[in-house]
Amino acid sequence: MTNKKNLRIEGLSAESLVARFGSPLYVYSKASLLGRLTALKRAFSKREPLICYAMKANPNREVCRIMARAGAGADIVSGGELLRALAAGMRPERVVFSGVGKTADELELALKRRVLTLNVESSEELDALERIARRLKRKAPVSIRLNPDIDPKTHPHITTGRSENKFGVERPEAMRLFRKASTSPWLRVQGIQCHIGSQITDTRPYGLAARAVTGVIKELAGEGIALEMADFGGGLGVTYQNEREHPVGALAKILTAALAPWPAMRLLLEPGRYLVADAGILLTRVLYRKSTSRRRFLIVDAAMNDLGRPALYGAWHPIAPARPRTGPRQAVDIVGPICESGDFMGRDRLLPPCEPGDVLAIFKAGAYGFAMSSQYNSRPRAAEVLVEGSRAKLIRRRETLKDIVRNEL
Ligand SMILES: Cc1ncc(COP(=O)(O)O)c(C=O)c1O
Repeated sequence: MTNKKNLRIEGLSAESLVARFGSPLYVYSKASLLGRLTALKRAFSKREPLICYAMKANPNREVCRIMARAGAGADIVSGGELLRALAAGMRPERVVFSGVGKTADELELALKRRVLTLNVESSEELDALERIARRLKRKAPVSIRLNPDIDPKTHPHITTGRSENKFGVERPEAMRLFRKASTSPWLRVQGIQCHIGSQITDTRPYGLAARAVTGVIKELAGEGIALEMADFGGGLGVTYQNEREHPVGALAKILTAALAPWPAMRLLLEPGRYLVADAGILLTRVLYRKSTSRRRFLIVDAAMNDLGRPALYGAWHPIAPARPRTGPRQAVDIVGPICESGDFMGRDRLLPPCEPGDVLAIFKAGAYGFAMSSQYNSRPRAAEVLVEGSRAKLIRRRETLKDIVRNEL
């Protein structure tokens, strides 16, 4: 990938951002974040869903605050995410809590903070929730997460709706849990949830999920258990290389048609990647060049601890020099300083000649980028910056070497 002009994020050049905030650096465009949310809302305008931003994709408080101000709620998976959501100004009645392993403390916190619903994923979790609700004398809002055994044809590590996955419960168990919850004085049955995976570029699996979900809604209605909401999770894919972006207009049609028999039912969505992936770029400086008899390497200062997706999933992110370079393009491996051969940002990339000090941009890093970063190899985590027009704001300071040992005794 090459660019003809110096790379800019909104009104600021990538190089000026690195000069000011250091490297490696995550940079997010506010316009892009808002653009995605608006596009999704527009596609679904007939049904006006509650869009619960899946904070796991990028939990930075400022990112969440932008989503909250634009009317989104949050899909959370831990007590930490609940605190972050509330700190970012998310209204609790717009927060849904998913996850197979919510602890008693987390369930209690969620009840006390009055989240919209808890997406319950097992019989034992339902029992634990009921016990806590009884102790707190507070009725718990419950949705059951259905595992519909659908293959979304994405990377095996990010499928979540198949029988071999740990998520949700299969239909017979879901029916049992709905019936049980509906007879408890401490549980209030609210809805059904179904999240089948991530980076899904096809609407077909959602069509199957919709059929599974509406089947449950119908059967429950026949037994006098009326659900108020249907949550189809997230999973909308984006284009990293040559995948097609998820056709949200077509998805909106499918889900709107599926829920047509229940006009009062609230539709919920939990997109993460779709909202934030494109908005983020990881900027990194070239440290060294080297070659073996078989490969040419550019060693950069970002590593798998900063962006784990290539190492974890073999994910492909576009990479380009921030300043146009001339000269014949050559295949290079862009690798980080970590002591693992899996520590790469891109392999066999055709790039013009780059030199130490050059800034490279790793695109589409806004989702599951910083969020999955670690201090592996005792490397301080990168800083995060938000750009709005020609203004840049530091939204997470770079960690220092002191931060690496801060909690050790
Ligand atoms: C329950 C749930 N909802 C939403 C999401 C967000 O998925 P995505 O970022 O693919 O939209 C996930 C991701 O793992 C999830 O587990």
